[in-house]
Amino acid sequence: MDLSEIKKALTLDELEEIRVKLLGKKGIITQKFKELKNLAPEERKRVAKELNELKERATTLILQKKKELEEKLLEEKLKLEKIDVTLFNPKPTGAIHPITDTMNKIIDFFTRLNFSVETGPLVEDDFHNFEALNLPKYHPARDMQDTFYFNDGNLLRTHTSPVQIRTMLSQKPPIRMISPGAVFRRDYDLTHTPMFHQVEGLVVDKKEKVSFANLKFILESFLVHMFGDVKVRFRPSFFPFTEPSAEVDISCIFCKGEGCRVCSYTGWLEVLGCGVVDPNVFKAVGYNDVSGYAFGLGVERFAMLLNKINDLRIMYEGDIRLMEQLK
Ligand code: PHE
Repeated sequence: MDLSEIKKALTLDELEEIRVKLLGKKGIITQKFKELKNLAPEERKRVAKELNELKERATTLILQKKKELEEKLLEEKLKLEKIDVTLFNPKPTGAIHPITDTMNKIIDFFTRLNFSVETGPLVEDDFHNFEALNLPKYHPARDMQDTFYFNDGNLLRTHTSPVQIRTMLSQKPPIRMISPGAVFRRDYDLTHTPMFHQVEGLVVDKKEKVSFANLKFILESFLVHMFGDVKVRFRPSFFPFTEPSAEVDISCIFCKGEGCRVCSYTGWLEVLGCGVVDPNVFKAVGYNDVSGYAFGLGVERFAMLLNKINDLRIMYEGDIRLMEQLK
């Protein structure tokens, strides 16, 4: 029998057709096996042996050819997808990442006002992240922050506020600091990622030197620095580590306060949390006769608003087209 057509197959489909023709249920060789029963015993033995050899040869040839064709296909594919890394691109791609860019703008504002920049570890302990911030164990406000815990009881910090505690424990008042950095919460949707960035601010000084009015003035100036001509409003709120506390809104930069989808038709966008430092926080770090205020903001929120990005997640996908647009 002629097996040469196996060698001539040009594609995997063609080869499969040949395989079915020879060895399939109704294939030529299969058919011959079925006809064995019509032969005389002696004859049957001889023909059966021949058939078995033929089947084996055909099978081997088909497998060889299959490998050969698959390799050829892969080679073609690789050739097609090859990237010439030596190719000169006269127009370099890339830009400062929107988060970095926004963070830099924020840091710039506060360092000019003589705030120092402090940092702390991403893996925190319960004391710095919660306890010293007036969030004792079993305090219901711990639920506000979906925490990633390690088996040893440590955790990924859920906010930059523990850096307040670390700074107060290692320095003496007066303190004027900000703390930019990554924080972690179990959250993932259009406007939340498990890792995001905050900038914390803390001012501590003699009682007569610190007031809610100072806080208000600094934050209003800051928000105008970031967003231009916006209205700013303080709304009473709650944080365990500040009392009184407020959330700060700016007039919607998209609709100028008229009401649109981004601001849920309220005309306002929430951008900050702040307040006067709770006495329990000073107690935890051993500070006496001082007063202070603190604030915290989410950098991603600012970056989304400033760059008009509606899905936070695209900021972490590294798509060059986004960077190109933000150049
Ligand atoms: N730590 C708060 C948060 O993550 C923000 C905040 C900081 C509020 C400082 C008030 C004062 O939500």
